[in-house]
Amino acid sequence: MNAQMKRIAVFTSGGDAPGMNAAIRAVVRTATYHGIEVYGIMRGYSGMIKGEFVRLDSASVSNTVQKGGTILKSARSQKFMTKEGRQQAFDQLVNNGIEGLVAIGGNGTFTGAMIFEQEFGIPTVGAPGTIDNDLYGTDYTIGYDTAVNTALDCIDKIRDTADSHDRCFFVEVMGRDSGYIAIPCAIGGGAEIVMIPETQMSVDVVIDTLQAGWKRSKTSFIVIVAEGEDEGNATNTAARVKEAIPQLDTRVTVIGHIQRGGSPTAADRLLGSQIGIAAVEGLMNGMRNVMAGIVDKKLVYTPFIDTINKKKLINQSFMRMVEILSV
Ligand code: F6P
Repeated sequence: MNAQMKRIAVFTSGGDAPGMNAAIRAVVRTATYHGIEVYGIMRGYSGMIKGEFVRLDSASVSNTVQKGGTILKSARSQKFMTKEGRQQAFDQLVNNGIEGLVAIGGNGTFTGAMIFEQEFGIPTVGAPGTIDNDLYGTDYTIGYDTAVNTALDCIDKIRDTADSHDRCFFVEVMGRDSGYIAIPCAIGGGAEIVMIPETQMSVDVVIDTLQAGWKRSKTSFIVIVAEGEDEGNATNTAARVKEAIPQLDTRVTVIGHIQRGGSPTAADRLLGSQIGIAAVEGLMNGMRNVMAGIVDKKLVYTPFIDTINKKKLINQSFMRMVEILSV
């Protein structure tokens, strides 16, 4: 137990994700429970450089567990990528007596934290906060479950029109370079095809699959396209399919940032709360440069270097499920 730590700070960085507030609340209340002062840093690394620190107590985080977004706001800071920016951030932390950090975000956030620790020795424990679920060292990231459920709700609505008008919809979901959001959307949304960066399905396969479905008397189709898919986005894919099958009535829907907002699901509130507690207690136990995550229902701390460099693989059996279930 690190008996010396008297004051820590928490911040969110990168894209906001539902459940980040549950994590912030858990950090604040865990620190308070253990008699540690806690500050919130506004706007991630950008606010750290500018000294945008606010003292948080138990009451500051009342009525936040159910809210989407992040009460601490978020930003992607170019300046923190420079040594000069990190020096300014360090000076601000020292001036404010902050001895440890909880960073809630994704790989970019943890890369910054790792370099910062190597240069200035401020210990950081990370909490996986991103809708993309693309982080090694945790089965699920905070925000992923909500994003999938939001996207699925949109797909259910799109299906009504696809079915009523005998159309083929190409639905683009987020996920940056990962297909984690696309896969459950395809299985749960009853899609005929899912295109993700991990499998590199060609548009020719999409065309063949749609034509085969047409021959089996299918009249409407949903194709889920992950935004990071190599063949291009949903709009490009739809145009190429339309060229090959002109009789197909195609439409494109890009769900976009709707996936990032909204009240977190029970799963994200629980995960955010678990991880928030684990992050503070990790710091208290002398941990640094690690991300707290849940793997196989167990709490694990994974070194940032692994979280950043190792890839969390997608189970290929999910692709087979989509094929079988859309027969
Ligand atoms: O990382 C979360 C995410 O929503 C990705 O899925 C997406 O590619 C990206 O952020 C969008 O970023 P921005 O909100 O900066 O456009």
